[in-house]
Amino acid sequence: MKRVILAGLFWAATMGGAAADGAQVFDNGCAFCHQEGGVGVAGQFPRLSGRVGVIASQPQGKALLPKILLNGMSGRITVDGQAILGIMPAFDSLSDEDIASVLSYLSGLEHAPVEFGADEIKQARAQPRLSPTEVAAQRDQLSAAKIVP
Ligand code: HEC
Repeated sequence: MKRVILAGLFWAATMGGAAADGAQVFDNGCAFCHQEGGVGVAGQFPRLSGRVGVIASQPQGKALLPKILLNGMSGRITVDGQAILGIMPAFDSLSDEDIASVLSYLSGLEHAPVEFGADEIKQARAQPRLSPTEVAAQRDQLSAAKIVP
């Protein structure tokens, strides 16, 4: 019984920590472009709020997100009906934990949160490196398949 309570407390503590860290990683490294709360700038920086959760709810979309963070992305995309031709820098210097927590945090903005684990990021990091345009080509396919809104 005591074990169960302790496990519950540990879970609550680590979950709380993960959420707080994700917001902090975002505010420190991403909000400069994607804006506070991930609302984006039309035609310049894609809105992430209400979109990352949708992307992450499908396995192929969930697999794409760590690739964007680890390799960066550059190509013409359309978000909210506006074309964006920008460069998303690679954030491969962030730890697996930081990338997992920032993606978990973003998925929960205006959407039911989807949990990313550090192990998923570790696996993505072990894959061959992609160029930012290769990542954009993969995103294109998922956009055509309506996995990326
Ligand atoms: C220097 C500006 C800049 C910073 C800093 C930045 N991004 Fe981006 N991000 C962009 C741009 C521009 C794009 C779109 C790239 C394109 O047009 O191919 C993008 C795309 C994305 C996408 C894909 C959105 C989609 O619709 O496919 C995600 C997810 C993302 N960024 C997350 C993050 C996270 C998380 C951070 C912080 C760790 C971050 N970005 C930091 C500029 C930035």
